[in-house]
Amino acid sequence: MRKAVIAGNWKMHMTCEETRVFAAAFRPLIEDLPADRQVVIAPPFTSIPTLSRHLAGAGVSVAAQNVHWEEKGAYTGMISAAMLVEHGVSHAIVGHSEPRKYYSETDEQINLRARTAQRHGLIPILCVGESLDQRESSETERVIHRQIEQGLHAVDPSSLIVAYEPIWAIGTGKTCAAEEANRICGLIRGWVGHDDVIVQYGGSVTPATIDDLMGQSDIDGVLVGGASLDPLSFGRIANYQAPAG
Ligand code: 13P
Repeated sequence: MRKAVIAGNWKMHMTCEETRVFAAAFRPLIEDLPADRQVVIAPPFTSIPTLSRHLAGAGVSVAAQNVHWEEKGAYTGMISAAMLVEHGVSHAIVGHSEPRKYYSETDEQINLRARTAQRHGLIPILCVGESLDQRESSETERVIHRQIEQGLHAVDPSSLIVAYEPIWAIGTGKTCAAEEANRICGLIRGWVGHDDVIVQYGGSVTPATIDDLMGQSDIDGVLVGGASLDPLSFGRIANYQAPAG
């Protein structure tokens, strides 16, 4: 049985003070979480110590929003896996569509990031997904297959999360229909070739859509942007109620 992973990606939001306020409100909301799920939050690097301290003992894992592929060196502005591990970080998002778009990250670089993360015991959360143009020209499967194949070269699938994040659904309020998200997540599982890999859906997930998404057979969790910034919304998402079956 795969354990669901409910992850929040805070992107460039949340100062330390805002993180402290979030943690105080969020902690009671996840006190009675069923054992079939795990909560992960990816704050900005500067808020990692505050989040860890204020949610200590609450069962929340801390993720980084990226990680560099080199051990150390002249890479201004970057962060290494060892620096993250030192702060108790357990997961690292790699290949998110925003760094792919704004900083021209390639599948090769993303692959190196995932491998370095694993070398340090971090679980990579590899994001994949098609643009609206690619979907409309029927390239969805080809694009995601390539991202999986190149992104996961020499990556251990037993310590991995893949997040299907269609770019047209990110921050737009347009959630991918649950059945279609499930179909793509099933394809991803097949391409990864490891039945137990956690495959998440991400893109405008809200308290209104979570139960339907988590009721799908191949969706093992979600990667939530905007709705993870509000403790009440993210608390409701973490407490999703999937129909039995
Ligand atoms: P939204 O939930 O704001 O659409 O963001 C999704 C996302 O990019 C998570 O990584």
